[in-house]
Amino acid sequence: MSHIPPEESSLEPKNEAQTMQRREFLKNAVLTTGTIVGVGGSLSLLTRQASAATPEAALIGGAKRPLGPYDTSEAQTSYQSITTYNNFYEFGTDKAEPAKRAGTLKTRPWTVLLDGEVKKPQRVDIDTLQSWFPLEDRIYRMRCVEGWSMVIPWFGFPLAALVRRMQPTSKAKYIQFTALNDPKQMPGQLEGVLEWPYVEGLRLDEALHPLSFMAVGIGGRLLPNQNGAPLRLVVPWKYGFKGIKSIVRITLTSTMPRTTWALSNPGEYGFYANVNPKVDHPRWSQATERRIGELSRRPTLPFNGYAREVASLYSGMDLRRNF
Ligand code: MTE
Repeated sequence: MSHIPPEESSLEPKNEAQTMQRREFLKNAVLTTGTIVGVGGSLSLLTRQASAATPEAALIGGAKRPLGPYDTSEAQTSYQSITTYNNFYEFGTDKAEPAKRAGTLKTRPWTVLLDGEVKKPQRVDIDTLQSWFPLEDRIYRMRCVEGWSMVIPWFGFPLAALVRRMQPTSKAKYIQFTALNDPKQMPGQLEGVLEWPYVEGLRLDEALHPLSFMAVGIGGRLLPNQNGAPLRLVVPWKYGFKGIKSIVRITLTSTMPRTTWALSNPGEYGFYANVNPKVDHPRWSQATERRIGELSRRPTLPFNGYAREVASLYSGMDLRRNF
């Protein structure tokens, strides 16, 4: 199985009080409506609602909150595109399928096993896990290996906070993520296109980088199933396939973990998968990309535009060999 290039296919809470307020807000929102509406702290939500033309704009793309140090100010992709143009092979290989088919995924109750090279392995309920951390917005570029890109307003917490909470042993050098494996809920798993469960991984220093993020929402709502509910990884300087969806297990390891696309086609996909316009995919150029919603292609930037933040993680490494 391989990816299809598009040509061929169709605020951080400022203090403890705000953090608590946010948690309460989330708890109530989830309990009562199944949605999150408290983006960017309760203050910025009020500002958004007051300044936006529609409730939708208040939540998506209409945010006028001050940008954080890791946010891009580029125009955000529409919520419609973010949630209907997806790669989630557990629900089929066509971009439109996940939105149509992922209703079978049951995201509550949901537990995540935290294990491996940690002080004390544990299984934790997703709502408990997300209550451990202040939730924040991150507006990131996402560049798919297929040559398209989006700008997505994620909502969640830094992966580093979770890794620290897991209390790594001195042997922990990598982190592995495992997605749900349940063909009853994920009918695409019966279609045999990839090995299941979908697995991904990072070096521990990559996981600890402040850009690495665990998303539980988009634009102020809980993640729609097709975007990887209830918990997904976001690593904006890497190709989108590193952003594993619907995670049920997070394991710290001493050796480099196996990753789905590298297992599937090691000549085309590597462990690192850093966005690199100079290293082409064997079947297409990576020099440019099409931003969803725009007509013309734009140049792809090294590390997807995050080189200043992350290039030092790879100093001395041959990025052609470690693709
Ligand atoms: N996670 C799982 N579990 N299964 C998948 O098929 N596809 C990956 C990644 N995470 C995938 C996955 C790919 S190829 C991309 S580009 C992104 O999810 C797409 O995320 P989006 O649909 O939210 O834009």
